Amino acid sequence: MADRYLTFTRTAPGRFLTRGLGLPRPVPLRRWSPEHPALEGPLLHLTAGDVPLPGLHEVLTRTGLPPHAGPLGTRRPAAVVLDATGVATVTALVDVHATLHPVVRSLADCGRVVVLGAPPSPADHHQAAAQQALDGFVRSLAKELGRGSTATLVRTTSAPAALPALRFLLSPKSAYVSGQTIEATLHDESVPEPPEPERPLACRTALVTGAARGIGEAIAQVLARDGAHVVALDVPAAHTDLVRVAERVGGTPLTLDITADDAGERIAAALPDGLDVLVHNAGITRDRRLANMAADRWSPVIDVNLGSVLRTTDFLLKCGTLRRGGSVVATASVAGLAGNAGQTNYAAAKAGVTGLVRSLAPRALAEHGIAVNAVAPGFIETRMTAAVPLLIREAGRRLNSLAQGGQPVDVAEAVAWLALGGVNGQVLRVCGQSLLGA
Ligand code: NAI
Repeated sequence: MADRYLTFTRTAPGRFLTRGLGLPRPVPLRRWSPEHPALEGPLLHLTAGDVPLPGLHEVLTRTGLPPHAGPLGTRRPAAVVLDATGVATVTALVDVHATLHPVVRSLADCGRVVVLGAPPSPADHHQAAAQQALDGFVRSLAKELGRGSTATLVRTTSAPAALPALRFLLSPKSAYVSGQTIEATLHDESVPEPPEPERPLACRTALVTGAARGIGEAIAQVLARDGAHVVALDVPAAHTDLVRVAERVGGTPLTLDITADDAGERIAAALPDGLDVLVHNAGITRDRRLANMAADRWSPVIDVNLGSVLRTTDFLLKCGTLRRGGSVVATASVAGLAGNAGQTNYAAAKAGVTGLVRSLAPRALAEHGIAVNAVAPGFIETRMTAAVPLLIREAGRRLNSLAQGGQPVDVAEAVAWLALGGVNGQVLRVCGQSLLGA
């Protein structure tokens, strides 16, 4: 759906009015395209604290936005990576200010600030305090940057473990991800670089539920772009749209209600050679305040958004259809993190998804070699949000640090990144740092 306000603010009268009245001035986000696959401008690598992260410079050279050597001159950095992993005392926090204060104003439009931190130590409360301080710092900086720029904290134990997150965050694919902390502590030396970096999901099979339209359609497109064979699943009523999507991405349609008792068996039967990426995207809303909500608005929402996710994940793990090295990406929602009046059913289901991810992720990785993560979209421009009354819709669009709604492709890019399994147990908000919620 077109964001007419954003378009208006780019005109001369729009600029005049928004400046005069102090209204939000969203900047069109720079998203990935074949013509513009990378951020444009140098990457600045800074260090706070006495002990830099070993090997970080070499890792940064592999992100697609290599670090700049020598003075920047008049060039504005496209991204700043601040290595703050060595900040172990409150005194050392002064370095965070000293390194970023002089450069933050010069960041290019739609730029990135990525702060690398270390996991807070249970055995050292001074280190834990200093490292937790970075979380509040990054969340606040993300609210200040403006001009389409984002800030993220990546907690890591080594430079190679941070590489998958850095590749995503230092690219236009993370345009609508901001103001949060990502734990990037996995590192398996034995995982080789994908043979085709442009198609990291080549030779993989991905199943996307709810793929006939909206976010699911975008996920199918992006996973196919990244090389996956996509099996696109949706309800019988959406058959025509589903076939169209499957054809467009060179995939296979699978008409199925995901809440059917035998859904797991039917998916396994449709995938005799196995599955690498399971994307739970199908979702429904049936909004009412609890006092007005009959049981027929409660149960289907819990079943589509959560019950079916639990059942099919369990089944496909147990029967071995999900192959070692694969991943599960579920869809939560900012409503499940923050709560939303009129959505007790939906928020309960989506919060349940985050509970599932956090509990299952360590076991699924240890026992099956499978990463489990979730995306939590904020306000995304789809048919679901087009149905929201105008004033609430406009508020939903603006109440985030980027002052605009996200596009389905923003969620799809995040899903495609999580599908690579470089992190585990994460609930990644794709919400432009929604002011509602964590
Ligand atoms: P949508 O309503 O446009 O598409 C959902 C798709 O799921 C539809 O094609 C529908 O037919 C399919 N589906 C519903 N029940 C199904 C079932 N039982 N079996 C198989 N397929 C089924 O929704 P949208 O906006 O694309 O959302 C996708 C996901 O993202 C949902 O899980 C939603 O809760 C979540 N989300 C969306 C947000 C937004 O702003 N649009 C915000 C936060 C989360």
